Amino acid sequence: MLRTFLLWLSEQQGIFNLLRRNGLASRFAARFVAGEGVETAATAALELKKLGIMTSLDLLGESVTQESDAFAARDQYLAMLDHLAPSGADVNVSVKLTQMGLDIDEELCAANMRRILEKARALGGFVRLDMEGSAYTQRTLDFFEHRLFSEFGPHTGVVIQSCLRRSVADIDHLIAIGARVRLCKGAYLEPTEVAFPEKADVDQAYRTLMERLLREGNYPGLATHDQRILEHAREFVTREGIPAHRFEFQMLYGVRRDLQERLRKEGFNMRVYVPFGTQWYPYLMRRLAERPANIAFILGNMIRETFSPRA
Ligand code: FDA
Repeated sequence: MLRTFLLWLSEQQGIFNLLRRNGLASRFAARFVAGEGVETAATAALELKKLGIMTSLDLLGESVTQESDAFAARDQYLAMLDHLAPSGADVNVSVKLTQMGLDIDEELCAANMRRILEKARALGGFVRLDMEGSAYTQRTLDFFEHRLFSEFGPHTGVVIQSCLRRSVADIDHLIAIGARVRLCKGAYLEPTEVAFPEKADVDQAYRTLMERLLREGNYPGLATHDQRILEHAREFVTREGIPAHRFEFQMLYGVRRDLQERLRKEGFNMRVYVPFGTQWYPYLMRRLAERPANIAFILGNMIRETFSPRA
C-alpha cells in the first residue's frame, strides 16, 4: 500500500511545487539525485570514473506539455554533451521522449532528438531512450527503430521492462535488428492486463530475458540491484563462456554503492545512471516506492550529518 501511495505521490505536481522551495527536501533528494545543474552531475560522473565506473547522465523531467519546455530540455542536453566531452566524463546520456515533446507533437520531438543524436554522434557518444509507462511502450519502440536506430545505429539504444507481458516479443525483435537494450524491471504502476502483478513473475521474466540478451544481444545493459539476479547472471555467463566485455551491469546513482564497486572490482563493466535537474520529485518518489525503508535510511543519515561534530 505504501508503494502505491508513493507512486501516486510521484504524479502530484502540486506537492512538488510546495516541496521544491524546501531546503530539507532537496537535501533528502541528494542521496539519489546529483544536484540541479550539469556541473554537479559531471562532477559526480567524474568521481565514479575514478572508481572505474561508467555513467549515463539523465536530465530529470518528463510529460512536458509546452513547446518551450521541450526546447529548453533539448538545449540542456546539448549543453550537457558539450560539457561532458572536455570534462573527461562519459559522453552517454539517457532521455525520455515525453520530455522532448512527444505528447505535444511527434515531429517536434523527432527534431529535438535528431539534434541531440547528431551532437552525440559527432562526439562519439551514446543516447539511451528511457522507457516510460506502458501507454508509451509501442510509440517509444517505433520511434527508436524508425527515427533513431535506422539513422544513428550504434549511438543509440532503448529500454525493455520485464514487468510487461509483451517484452519477450519485443526482445526477440530488438535482438533481430541488433539494437542495444537496457533491461530493467519497470518503475511504473501498470494495469494487470499489460504487466505481471506478482513480483516473482517480474523477476522470473527478468532472468529469462536477461539470458536471451546475454546469449544473443548486442552489448546489453543489465539494470538491476537485485542480488539474486546478479548472482544468476554471474553463474550464467561463467557457464556459457560469455566474456565480461560483451555486456554491462547498470545501477542507479546512490543505490547499492557497495555492489557497484564490488562488481567493478570483480572485472565487470558497471555503469551508473546519474539523474540531475530541478524536476527531481517524481524520480525520487519512484525510488522511495521501490524501497520505502529508504525514507528512514535517508532521514537517519541526515540527522547523523546534522548532529555529528564537524572535523
Ligand atoms: P527490486 O526493486 O526487486 O530491488 C532489488 C533490491 O535492490 C532491493 O531488495 C534493494 O536491496 C535494492 N534496491 C532496489 N531499489 C532500491 C532503491 N531505490 N533504494 C535502495 N535499494 C534499492 N525503469 C523504467 O521503467 N524505465 C527506465 O528507463 C529505467 N531505467 C533504469 C536505468 C537503470 C540504470 C536502473 C538501475 C533502473 C532503471 N529503471 C527504469 C528502474 C527499474 O525499472 C526498477 O524500478 C529499479 O531498478 C528497481 O528494481 P531492481 O531491479 O533493482 O529490483
